[in-house]
Amino acid sequence: VAFFFAVLSLFFMSLLSIASVAGQVSYTIAEEMAKGSLVGNIAQDLGLESKRLTSGKARIYTRDSDEYVELHRERGVLLVKERIDREALCRQTTPCALHFQIILEDPMEFYTVTVQITDINDNAPTFEKSEIKFKISESAVTGAKFVLERAVDLDVGINDLKRYELKPTDNFALKLHNNADGNKNVEMVLQKPLDREKQEQISLVLTAVDGGEPQMSGTMLIAITVLDANDNAPVFTQQTYKATVTENSPKGTVVATVTASDADHGINGKITYSITNTLDDVRKVFEINEETGEVSLIGNIDFEESQNFEINLRGSDEGGLTDSCKLIVDVQDVNDNKPEINIMSKSNVISEDSKLSTVVTMINIDDKDTGENGKVQCFIDDSVSFSLKTSSNNFYSLVTDSELDRERESEYNITVTCSDEGVPSLSSSVTLTLHISDVNDNAPVFERSSYEAYIVENNTPGLSIFTVKARDADWNQNARVSYMLEDSSVNGVPVSSYVSVSADSGVIHAVRSFDYEQIKDFQFRVKAQDGGSPPLSSNETVKVLIQDQNDNPPQVLYPVQTGGSVVAEMVPPSADVGYLVTKVVAVDVDSGQNAWLSYKLHKATDRALFEVGLQNGEIRTVRQVSDKDAVKQRLTVIVEDNGQPSRSATVVVNVAVADSFPEVLSGLTDFAQDKEYNDNLTFYLVLALAVVSFLFIMCLAVIISVKIYRWRQSRVLYHSNLPVIPYYPPRYSDTLGTGTLPHVYNYEVCRTTDSRKSDCKFGRAASQNVLIMDPSSTGTMQRIQSEKSILDEPESLLEVGHMD
Ligand SMILES: *[C@@H]1O[C@H](CO)[C@@H](O)[C@H](O)[C@H]1NC(C)=O
Ligand SMILES: *[C@@H]1O[C@H](CO)[C@@H](O)[C@H](O)[C@H]1NC(C)=O
Repeated sequence: VAFFFAVLSLFFMSLLSIASVAGQVSYTIAEEMAKGSLVGNIAQDLGLESKRLTSGKARIYTRDSDEYVELHRERGVLLVKERIDREALCRQTTPCALHFQIILEDPMEFYTVTVQITDINDNAPTFEKSEIKFKISESAVTGAKFVLERAVDLDVGINDLKRYELKPTDNFALKLHNNADGNKNVEMVLQKPLDREKQEQISLVLTAVDGGEPQMSGTMLIAITVLDANDNAPVFTQQTYKATVTENSPKGTVVATVTASDADHGINGKITYSITNTLDDVRKVFEINEETGEVSLIGNIDFEESQNFEINLRGSDEGGLTDSCKLIVDVQDVNDNKPEINIMSKSNVISEDSKLSTVVTMINIDDKDTGENGKVQCFIDDSVSFSLKTSSNNFYSLVTDSELDRERESEYNITVTCSDEGVPSLSSSVTLTLHISDVNDNAPVFERSSYEAYIVENNTPGLSIFTVKARDADWNQNARVSYMLEDSSVNGVPVSSYVSVSADSGVIHAVRSFDYEQIKDFQFRVKAQDGGSPPLSSNETVKVLIQDQNDNPPQVLYPVQTGGSVVAEMVPPSADVGYLVTKVVAVDVDSGQNAWLSYKLHKATDRALFEVGLQNGEIRTVRQVSDKDAVKQRLTVIVEDNGQPSRSATVVVNVAVADSFPEVLSGLTDFAQDKEYNDNLTFYLVLALAVVSFLFIMCLAVIISVKIYRWRQSRVLYHSNLPVIPYYPPRYSDTLGTGTLPHVYNYEVCRTTDSRKSDCKFGRAASQNVLIMDPSSTGTMQRIQSEKSILDEPESLLEVGHMD
């Protein structure tokens, strides 16, 4: 229907143009008419008959190559020969018209025909490219213009491009810009800043719309890539990070990782981390990986030096934007420090008599670790003598807690061990060597509780008897023992005159020669004293036993041998067999075997008449005495002791076989003249007899005078403390009258009733010994009194000197 109306309207328009233009025919047709469409009734419009056209061989003349319009002679109309595209024909030129001539022959005539082609909206606006791309930095400021491609619409007039539309319009607006040539430039203007971080790719559609009816449009895609600008600073995920690290962690340990983000892209978003501490040592201990933000150790971490670190970190992007944060690293303690033992003061030596709780050493403990790791306990090995006391925290004192005894233990190695309570626990120890100094607390001790020494009499003075030895448990000077005799006296004589002791060696020497017959044993005390201050000492009894030697021959006590005198025993002629004539009494001051006496008849006038008791010395008749027997019988008895070698004495016993003394006297001359023994020496015998008689008288005189003297002397002695008067049988010594002996010995009372029991006995009874000290004299006198002296002789005097 539309088409029909269009054609109809064109038809009226043609009529109108013919009417206004004479001689010329002008038609107006729309482009794109179908082939064969009527352009105009040319015959009619030119006023020609169709025969003329035919006869005139009417034809169209044109200089154009293409013929869009043909002439239908028979009908006398112009028809569309080929489809007419106005755009192709005239481009943008308006009006667009075809000009040709219709030429007739016979006669030749021509007519100008103009066919005006009108536009129809047969072209849409088009863009050269379906898509254009932009890269726009997000930092582009508003107002920035971006020239877009124009669209082209081949149509003209109303059908030409009319307007553009851009969608969406978030960021950009369109702006048309009139060019000098009348074209319009299309520009895209940034209305609102771009943000790559929000939208990196933006797609816009630019639509060009023409004014035709129906409207046609063309589109172009505008792809915008928003380029990054460094408009975002890095941002750490936290303002403060916290981390812990144990001390002594190896280098390279990652402590923490910090992260910053940067919304930018590419290098603008590439964050470089760094540590910004400047004043402290942090940068020597930590490093940060520039790229990953890993904070790791490069140094040693010692809790004891610093317990935490504050690390200032910075993250910066390439554009120089930064952010900073803090990393607080707490260091955790590890039990890596042994307790330190410091000896504050120390004594190396203490005296063994130190009081209990004497402080020996003071110790201070220091453990650098904290908490349990730094709690320290100290102890010492099981030492009975010491204990460790703690006064206040970490101060200990080592004190004695029992008595010390250098002699038991002279040195202590005390190991003090201190351990902390960390896990595992660390400990350290120190060994203190403590010497105990000596105190003179031990007296010398003799090796034996008593000593007995033997010495044979008649020793040489100076002979060493034996050695005493004492030990002292102390040390050095305190243990240097010296020996000395304790003052005492033996039989009134200082013991020092008997023995001496060598101070250093303890060797005991005899000072004098001992005589068993005077002293059989004695004892004294030896003192051992150490060199301490004050010195300590002990003493021990030494008993010296003197051993007998057979150094004394038997002594005949009876009958008394007076040399010249003649004493006779009388035997009545009527005496029976076994008549006891007399008894030879002898003693031997030696003892034991040495004093065991035996009696033998050595010689006799008549051997058959007498016998001598071997043991008891009794002379008895062995047969009946008869008148025929000589009045004078002379017996020689030998007394022998049993020593080795034995010693002997002889005694002559005169026996008179008579009833009365006169007979004896008469017989004396016979005795004297008896030449049985003195055959050749009558003269000497007479001389000897005279001498003996003289001596006898002298003897008597001496005895009497001595007796008087002694009596007086004893009187004086009791009043004046005069010298000791030991008893001695008068006949024991030839030198009796001098009162001294060449060798000054003590003599003792001996008594015997039987030679077999003739051991000498000391006159021990206190009542028998009186010790008298004469202060004016160096000597000591002893008076020994014996009531039971075998002889009825009174005591003799003997002076005993002191022997040095
Ligand atoms: C103490 O230690 C020292 C040296 O280590 C050693 O010579 C000595 O014998 C020790 N003493 C004791 C009583 O253990
Ligand atoms: C000798 O030692 C004893 C103990 O053994 C003592 O009682 C006595 O006093 C000592 N004698 C002297 C003189 O020191």
